[in-house]
Amino acid sequence: MKKWYAVLGHPIHHSISPRMHEAWFQKYNIEASYVPILVKPGELEKAVDSLKLLGCSGFNVTVPYKEEIIPFLNELDVSAKVAGAVNTVVNRDGQLIGHNTDGRGLLANISGLSEEKRVLVIGAGGAAKGIVAALKERHIRTLFIANRTLEKAVQLAEWASGTAITYSQAEDMFSTFDIVIQTTSVGMEEDISPVNLKGWHPSMTAIDIIYSPPETAFLRQAREEGAFTMNGLSMLIGQGALAFELWTGIYPDQDYCKKTVFSS
Ligand code: ATR
Repeated sequence: MKKWYAVLGHPIHHSISPRMHEAWFQKYNIEASYVPILVKPGELEKAVDSLKLLGCSGFNVTVPYKEEIIPFLNELDVSAKVAGAVNTVVNRDGQLIGHNTDGRGLLANISGLSEEKRVLVIGAGGAAKGIVAALKERHIRTLFIANRTLEKAVQLAEWASGTAITYSQAEDMFSTFDIVIQTTSVGMEEDISPVNLKGWHPSMTAIDIIYSPPETAFLRQAREEGAFTMNGLSMLIGQGALAFELWTGIYPDQDYCKKTVFSS
């Protein structure tokens, strides 16, 4: 039987995942399809039951269901346990296993990321948790977390053996870091940055998890001052590639996806 996959969310029409996975299915000659499913509030459990009934081999979960999905799954991989959120589900003979490929997907695309790199994470919400978990997995020795609400940064930093700082401390010392990862949603709706970071230099990398707009105020400042910049497209494709690998056993070509799906 032809396999099929899905993405659940609300809204869902904007999701790029169907195009991304369909492109890879085609490239690797896999007979499968991938469909976006709009799940209305309060109907997640029904949707998951239906997917099981209809033999869905795996699915992605997006906003606003990444946490709400957890009680409807049979097992969680460590990545999902730590992040407290799931973006990828594998249906293993009727058992639904939840994973979180967001953090690992992002880190897979940072070239030269090694244990001795000094990393600053801006934000301490759901997205930050997944990324911090992946940084911990990669044994990053110097990890700072800056957040508007310091208490949340303290909790996350304690768990990750990192250091919590305020935004104003981050503004004072941020140029001592090699990599700065912006994980809040600030910059998506308005052309502003959550922190005012000035003094970037070319050996630094600035990463924003936002991909629309393609260049946030945070990234623009970094680019104008000579830093290497990366927007959220890398995380989007990176998390998709790891989901694809979980489902098919193939780690797909991300450049191919960039060219076919995103270059038009
Ligand atoms: P997500 O799951 O998308 O990460 P979240 O858990 O609500 O969303 O976390 C949002 C993050 O963005 C938090 O770090 C939040 O800071 P607080 O913990 O202080 O709320 C940060 N954030 C949201 N709006 C912000 C703003 N206007 N300025 C600075 N930080 C902001």
